[in-house]
Amino acid sequence: MKFEKNILGIGAGYVGGPSMAMIACKCPAYKVTVVDIDPLRIAAWNSDDLPIYEPGLDAIIAATRGKNLFFSTDIEASIRENDIIFVNVNTPVKMFGVGAGMAADLQYWEKTARQILQHSRSSKIVIEKSTFPVKTALAMERILSNNKTIRFDVLSNPEFLSEGNAVNNMENPDRVLIGFRETENGIKARDILVEIYANWVPRERIIGSNIWSSELSKLVSNAFLAQRISSINAISALCEKTDADINEVAMIVGMDSRVGNKFLSVSVGFGGSCFKKDILNLVYLCRHYNLNEVADYWEGVIKINQYQQERFISNILNAMFNTITGKKICLLGFAFKADTGDTRESPAIFIARRLLEEQAEIVVSDPKALKNARADLAGVVGKVSYTEDPYEAVKDCHAIAVLTEWAIYRDLDFHKIYETMTKPAFIFDGRNILDHKRLFKIGFNVYPIGKPPLVHF
Ligand code: UDX
Repeated sequence: MKFEKNILGIGAGYVGGPSMAMIACKCPAYKVTVVDIDPLRIAAWNSDDLPIYEPGLDAIIAATRGKNLFFSTDIEASIRENDIIFVNVNTPVKMFGVGAGMAADLQYWEKTARQILQHSRSSKIVIEKSTFPVKTALAMERILSNNKTIRFDVLSNPEFLSEGNAVNNMENPDRVLIGFRETENGIKARDILVEIYANWVPRERIIGSNIWSSELSKLVSNAFLAQRISSINAISALCEKTDADINEVAMIVGMDSRVGNKFLSVSVGFGGSCFKKDILNLVYLCRHYNLNEVADYWEGVIKINQYQQERFISNILNAMFNTITGKKICLLGFAFKADTGDTRESPAIFIARRLLEEQAEIVVSDPKALKNARADLAGVVGKVSYTEDPYEAVKDCHAIAVLTEWAIYRDLDFHKIYETMTKPAFIFDGRNILDHKRLFKIGFNVYPIGKPPLVHF
């Protein structure tokens, strides 16, 4: 069958897999190929057990795979055969050398740029979809311009999807952003990308900007979102000292339409692969340009996030008579948020490690993230066990710490749970999702975040 367009996605992770699948789903006339260097990951995309859990994604894959969506490890041939290439490779924080712990590690990205250069036989549009530091497109253009006979047009098209909501986010995006060069070829390339998205996104939501604004806007969007969470989490510490209630404060502040009520849920801290990494990138960029005050300002968002996790541990220790040695603590939830199995930068990792340092015994429970949790805690010294069933997990525990806002945790039978726990039984609700008064009535000592605790002593 002859397809209207041949599109390639390089990188089959949390962004590459779902976003390319969505294009295939919405554009049956296009052939979409997704490649990755990891054969196991590609095999998983080709199986019934997809490598990531994302609600609704399996149905999209089932409808497209083998028809106009293909997963492959043949990167070289795929580069040759496709003229529109989305780059979805990961850009983790660099852990060595200059910029260690802050800058983005661009080795995968650069390898990809060089592969594209080496294997292309005709002109290509290369689209940066992963989050890259500002001016990455320029470096990409410089590498690609080494081939004088083929034209490469580089666009920036950052992905704003949020895990757990990816399908809905991609189907109804707030905006699709395309950064392009104001040249004849740049505009042509932009129009080709617009045409792809216009298959399902209303034209007014597809916006253009210069490439650098596009790259920067992605970092700044994530920094603003994370800043809101750190703002509310910082105030939760003050609420705990003053008997104010963070849920009431958040509701009142959020009712100001200028502020808005989204992203004001207090938590044990934000996690995920993007927020911390992108803010560190932003901070690094500001320091590079000697904007130290600006860098310090954004760094504060990360500091508060770390502080919130440390405070959670201090609250557990204080409440449990300053010792948890030999006590059994159940972690309800390990994913960095609900509806995903992803645990990258999850506060649960830090909390589990700290509890083990205090020589507590921990039981980790999560409906989707146990495989990742096991990998995250591999080699950590201490007693850790894993079970998906929350009722099994809480047996004989002295305390429960709710770390992920899975809907199922709200509806657990806490009478039954209380009966099986060691007394006095404690609950630390790191997401404020439970009915605290009811739990207190059952007999629990309840420690929400940013609210007065309900204790029986
Ligand atoms: C984020 C951005 O939302 C998305 O636009 C971008 O493309 C990638 O980064 P993601 O990391 O998938 O998406 O999840 P998000 O829903 O933003 O949550 C991030 C973290 O913040 C989670 O740990 C979540 O639990 C936490 N959070 C979120 C809060 O603690 N409180 C809130 O009110 C909202």
